[in-house]
Amino acid sequence: MERELSLEVVRVTELAALASAPWMGRGDKINADGAATSAMRAMFDTVSIRGTVVIGEGEMDEAPMLYIGEQVGSMNGPEVDVAVDPLEGTEIVAKGLNNAMSVIAIAQKGNLLHAPDMYMEKLAVGPQLVGRLSITDPLEVTLNKAADILDKKVSELTVMVLDRVRHETVINTLRKVGVRIKFLSDGDVAGAMAPAFSEAGIDLYVGSGGAPEGVLAAAALKCLGGEIQGRLMPSDAKEYARCIQMGIEDPYKVLTMEDMIGNDDVIFAATGVTPGEFLGGVRYLPDDRAETHSIVMRAKTKTIRFIRTLHYLPNKSFI
Ligand code: FBP
Repeated sequence: MERELSLEVVRVTELAALASAPWMGRGDKINADGAATSAMRAMFDTVSIRGTVVIGEGEMDEAPMLYIGEQVGSMNGPEVDVAVDPLEGTEIVAKGLNNAMSVIAIAQKGNLLHAPDMYMEKLAVGPQLVGRLSITDPLEVTLNKAADILDKKVSELTVMVLDRVRHETVINTLRKVGVRIKFLSDGDVAGAMAPAFSEAGIDLYVGSGGAPEGVLAAAALKCLGGEIQGRLMPSDAKEYARCIQMGIEDPYKVLTMEDMIGNDDVIFAATGVTPGEFLGGVRYLPDDRAETHSIVMRAKTKTIRFIRTLHYLPNKSFI
């Protein structure tokens, strides 16, 4: 993929973020998501790819746009797999909380795991812990190993986890071992990416979240030099069958970075909708300007660009 593509892609996440931001705090996650999805879909037509959505808004019969299998792009350019989450954190925007982003990952065709829509157990780390931990270890063991490698006391570790009832056992263990916890209300792509940003102050991300979000985080971590390990959690026979149907022969196997992202020809872009651990949210400024903060990265070169854009939006109409 040409390197110029990354700048084309970030314009798509910017537009989706700008479209959903007016919905902040209005208690309407459906419209917040719809606005981001329509804007992203429209802007994709300008991107020089022949893309197929492999992670998107759902199956063709569930989602009007950006559904799995949909062709996107200008149809000139490389044949690629596309993973999108036009609004990662719909509830966040509805409630006006932190960490909502618009996200895209693009890889050479055949190099993104087609993740079924179910939960995935996750363990994500930054560069210092890559290859050193295993999701198959008991959490206590992982925390002690991480503290050792990072040369910290266990009590100095900060672990991020989604604030969910299903995480009761995980949270009890974190408390028993004595780490600091940073709870996320939603938005675990940003959560899993956080350990790769030293300024975020997060050592590990643990717990379960969406499997598609796990693959998006894997694309980001491939660029950031971090790591995520995952394990699908089919909750019934139907979900198990869905894994098999999507080509995952052993649904309980540990999914490594290589399983999720085939090679390093990957581009990841995200634009903040509300403020987060490493991106600012959309801000409205005087003179018809709106400011966005984005990150765009290529795994091949490991270049990480933070882009602050001042958009000129005369006649912008709010909702
Ligand atoms: P949406 O943007 O689809 O609302 O997803 C938000 C999210 O928090 C994801 O980041 C996360 O992977 C998933 O939901 C967790 O699911 P649940 O809310 O069921 O715990």
